[in-house]
Amino acid sequence: MSELDTLREDLISAVDAAADLKALDAIRVETLGRKGRITGQMQSLGAMEPGARKAMGKALNVLKDEVVAAIDARRTALEDAELDARLAEEWVDVSLPARSTPMGRIHPISQTMEEVSAIFGDMGFVIAEGPDIETDWHNFTALNFPEGHPAREMQDTFYLPPKDDGTKMVLRTHTSPVQVRTMMEQEPPIRILVPGRTYRSDWDQTHTPMFHQFEGLVIDGSTHMGHLKGCLIDFCKAYFEIDTIKLNFRPSFFPFTEPSAEVDIACNKKGGHLRFGHFDDEHDDWLEILGCGMVHPNVLSNCGLDSSKYQGFAFGMGCERIAMLKYGIPDGRSFFETDVRWMKHYGFMPLDVPSVTGGLSS
Ligand code: PHE
Repeated sequence: MSELDTLREDLISAVDAAADLKALDAIRVETLGRKGRITGQMQSLGAMEPGARKAMGKALNVLKDEVVAAIDARRTALEDAELDARLAEEWVDVSLPARSTPMGRIHPISQTMEEVSAIFGDMGFVIAEGPDIETDWHNFTALNFPEGHPAREMQDTFYLPPKDDGTKMVLRTHTSPVQVRTMMEQEPPIRILVPGRTYRSDWDQTHTPMFHQFEGLVIDGSTHMGHLKGCLIDFCKAYFEIDTIKLNFRPSFFPFTEPSAEVDIACNKKGGHLRFGHFDDEHDDWLEILGCGMVHPNVLSNCGLDSSKYQGFAFGMGCERIAMLKYGIPDGRSFFETDVRWMKHYGFMPLDVPSVTGGLSS
């Protein structure tokens, strides 16, 4: 076997044995690089006889082409193998069901707060807030509850120790003190909605010591009882998403409004199901949902407003109550029991909230 045949055999078997691309490249450099074995042979041609040089040059070129072809073939094979290995390792089973991420729910109270705020927001009301720990003056006196007046007993108040300067403090029993704060700070026109926590010493199926209310207040030169009725009827239609809803304004008493009314909503409890609307004369019952009235002139003047110049209405309603009615929640205490199973059932996914122009379904 000639020297070249031995070299060919050596090189081709080295190329075929190259375990990876790096080893293959090392062989390429050893063979065809500047100091490579074939390159060395080519350089030695110069010292040869012309006849032998020609034959040897030709044979070397053939060998070089063979080795280059062998290296290319081996490279392709190694690259394919590498890709196959990666594909085998990194494949993704797209048919596998996605891993679920635990998702929280929006509490029905938060949802109701959002819905009610959106509806009154559409009517031009702005949100106002006040402190939960309130002075007796803002919670009662300014609202025309005289000291010792029995009306204070209507609200089972949590009294707090007085401040150092003797100021009597309570946990606010309603959101109405925010009316007072707003009127004292702001010249009419006023149009506010006050969502917030309120506190009374109560505990049964429909009462919890902490609950939520919405207070509405509109004060300007001309707002009257007709506006109050229209506003609340529009609200109830939008909130309950029932156009045929029927309300009854029943005369009532609050120290801070005159005249005062409680609003009942017509309902049908036949068959143990509570339904609103759609029944004209069929309704067999009324459910109280809120209190309202025209702001008492004493309240206006207690807040520094001229009652001969300004007038307006106020209303207050319980958030839990309207949430229970709309979403069929039977026990108000369950709102605050932080039971995850209850939240899964009654909680909300993030959704658009209803407004006067459209409900959840629109
Ligand atoms: N503050 C009253 C309550 O909590 C509700 C109310 C508000 C009534 C505004 C009239 C006007 O019972």
